[in-house]
Amino acid sequence: MIQDGAPRRPQGTPIPLSRKPEIETSQPARMEGASGTACIRTFGCQMNVHDSDRMRRMIRDAGYAEVNDYEDADMVILNTCYVRENAVDRVRGHLGELVRLKREGRVKKVALTGCIGAAEESQELRDQYGIDLVLGTHNTYELAKFVGLPTMLETFTPELPGTEGERSAFVTIMTGCNYQCSYCIVPSVRGRMVCRPVENVVEEVERLVAGGTSYVTLLGQTVDAWRDPSGNGKRFCDLLGRVADVAPRVWFTTSHPSNMEDRTLKTIGEKQSIVKRLHLPVQSGSDRMLKVMHRGYRAERYRRKIEVFRENVPDGTLSTDIIVGHPGETEEDHEETLKLVEECRFDSAYVFKFSPRRGTEAAIMGEAVTPEVAQRRFMQVLRAVERGAFERNQRKVGAEEEIYIRHGQADGGKLIGETWSGHAVHIAAGASTVSPGDYVRARIQSAGPHVLYAGEPIA
Ligand code: 5AD
Ligand code: SF4
Repeated sequence: MIQDGAPRRPQGTPIPLSRKPEIETSQPARMEGASGTACIRTFGCQMNVHDSDRMRRMIRDAGYAEVNDYEDADMVILNTCYVRENAVDRVRGHLGELVRLKREGRVKKVALTGCIGAAEESQELRDQYGIDLVLGTHNTYELAKFVGLPTMLETFTPELPGTEGERSAFVTIMTGCNYQCSYCIVPSVRGRMVCRPVENVVEEVERLVAGGTSYVTLLGQTVDAWRDPSGNGKRFCDLLGRVADVAPRVWFTTSHPSNMEDRTLKTIGEKQSIVKRLHLPVQSGSDRMLKVMHRGYRAERYRRKIEVFRENVPDGTLSTDIIVGHPGETEEDHEETLKLVEECRFDSAYVFKFSPRRGTEAAIMGEAVTPEVAQRRFMQVLRAVERGAFERNQRKVGAEEEIYIRHGQADGGKLIGETWSGHAVHIAAGASTVSPGDYVRARIQSAGPHVLYAGEPIA
């Protein structure tokens, strides 16, 4: 979220052009009288959060005031996720409410953007709920015209930074994905991988840091697959090193085990400014399932990568994504996943029950796992992860840590921060005034499976 008081581009001024013109200058700088209130709801991953930041900039430049509730909004933008079926169900719930508010004359315009917008199903939703504008992930820039800004021509949206002036900012380094995982809709809605040139990324980071950003997260579906598009041989590890020399605090997500190089894992340990947390989705511990899923690696490679990470980043934290109940998953496959969870000692995991996505290979595979079995496997994996994480977190109790404040104000009673090892910490608010972007020192007093709890900041 853009914080009040943060340096912001004046309304209506064009976005800096780093690659090619994004704005037709023959158009009026701003449509007269384009103002009102707008509400943006974001579903899904950090890529969507970042896209929402860009759209937030556009609506503000167009003179809209941002509001939190649909009831107060003239225009509502739903920036959606399509990864799992329940994500669509959730959006349907919101669309139903918006139809009612439109009928009552409160909300005037509804836009649907993001991954559902890029899927065929969006036409059905548009007709059913009378949506005014549907945009996919490659034409977010068309929102500009819809809100009365000059027409933009650029489809390669990473060129449009969305989080300037914030203490923490996302920087997209690549979009799309070249993998074809059996269950995943991402390649069909986000397209093939497109990487940004290294200098272009570094320039954006430098600009952000100069504007007060103290934490940069590099984003992409498979960030570690990044290659410099100029063909100069630069890989993700080189880019990470460059960014880590410029930004005071850096993290990246999400990675693919097949692309993760040992030298990247070493760099995480070596560079002080990189948060020592690795998010490396494994999806399954069974070689048979990894093959069915077309993940392109075996469990053994994954284990080896984790060993290298632990060796080079002894205090680091590790998180992953796991899917249970993919078609064809047997009890033996599931046992393999549980075994891998025990061995890798994850600090956290996003565990998903398989959800069939129309258009993916897995959606038409036989050997479906029953919902009851999927639920049991889901709970077993979740508990195994939590057990391990709880044990590991206990070892932090008593330690004094340097903690980066992510959310909250001391006088508001609750501070949420992050250690250099990547642990989430709830800190008892003291009398001192601290705000997001600050560092405090505090002692860890207790720990749960998901967070550490620290006492008041030490003066
Ligand atoms: N069903 C369940 N989980 C899925 N994911 C992606 N597609 C599906 C699906 N069809 C999960 C994967 C991925 C994460 C972002 O979402 O674990 O890493
Ligand atoms: Fe989807 Fe697989 Fe690409 Fe990840 S690597 S975005 S799971 S296709």
